[in-house]
Amino acid sequence: MNRIQKITGLAAALGTFLLLAGCGAKEQSGQETPTARQFETEMDENLIAVGFSQVGAESDWRAANTESIQSALTPENGFYLIYEDAQQKQENQFKAIRNFILQEVDYIVLSPIVETGWDTVLQEAKDAGIPVILVDRMAQVDEELYACWIGADFESEGRRAGEWLEQYLKEQGRADEEIHIVTLQGTLDSSAQLGRTKGFAEVMRKHDNWDMLEMRDADFTQAKGQEVMEALLQKYDDIDVVVSENDNMAFGAVDAIHEAGRSCGPDGDITILSFDAVNAAFDAMLSGEINVSFECNPLHGPKLQEIIHALNDGKSVDKIQYMEETYFDTSMDLEELRKTRAY
Ligand code: AHR
Repeated sequence: MNRIQKITGLAAALGTFLLLAGCGAKEQSGQETPTARQFETEMDENLIAVGFSQVGAESDWRAANTESIQSALTPENGFYLIYEDAQQKQENQFKAIRNFILQEVDYIVLSPIVETGWDTVLQEAKDAGIPVILVDRMAQVDEELYACWIGADFESEGRRAGEWLEQYLKEQGRADEEIHIVTLQGTLDSSAQLGRTKGFAEVMRKHDNWDMLEMRDADFTQAKGQEVMEALLQKYDDIDVVVSENDNMAFGAVDAIHEAGRSCGPDGDITILSFDAVNAAFDAMLSGEINVSFECNPLHGPKLQEIIHALNDGKSVDKIQYMEETYFDTSMDLEELRKTRAY
């Protein structure tokens, strides 16, 4: 059985499975999974076959990231993309990678949910001669096991958040006040969580009057953000600042704060710092619910397309490739700025 037969065969099996299960992947994850029909009609020997193992559909950022990659790696651009949503489970990513190896894809694109535990499966991809490109999050493995990585400088995002708070408190005349902070952390051991926590902690160390009451995992989801914030509000009545390691958790936190009869944002009593700068964060800043969002650029598709074409032409590519990022806060002309935003 050749590569294409394997891909179409496995895709047909997947289609049958979904039919028998009576539910499509879309219902489970909110994401479109290509159907067997799409696989059969779109595959062509000349296309570059790419298996993409995505983390899940946990946030608006993730949806924008998936969209960017799916709309770049199209047959018109020379690609045959097999997309797998891991639903936030590392074992699903292991399965997807092993299937991609069986399917003999040309490249594997992996957004690793956490940084650790990848050595064996990435060694299997290397042994099969399939280059792996890491996107968004990093994997702590020997650098021989991946061709390159594209993503955000999470540590500098966290540092930027700390510096923003420093400046904001100064402007509010609160630089010397005791400031009580809580952090809603993203999925523990993910690069975004590790980097943002570390960067913020660096600035925090310079301020003896900043007191981190608690840091809690809220898994990058809105529902968890709300649940964890409710618990924190019950435990502490003196929270001044919430650092939410993504926008969706911040939206959940805002709901919890309102339900508890408290207020937040620039005119409220709790300052909210968030990350991602998705469209809904602009809404939340414009309605005065959150103060600032530090951009994390999810538009990896075009860069990924360029990288795969370069590797396919035998060219070398930079091992580490950062996306450009900025931040947005309520002192800016957000109505104008949002017109330039793609996600
Ligand atoms: O790894 C990037 C992070 O993952 C984004 O900040 C978050 O929204 C997503 O789920």
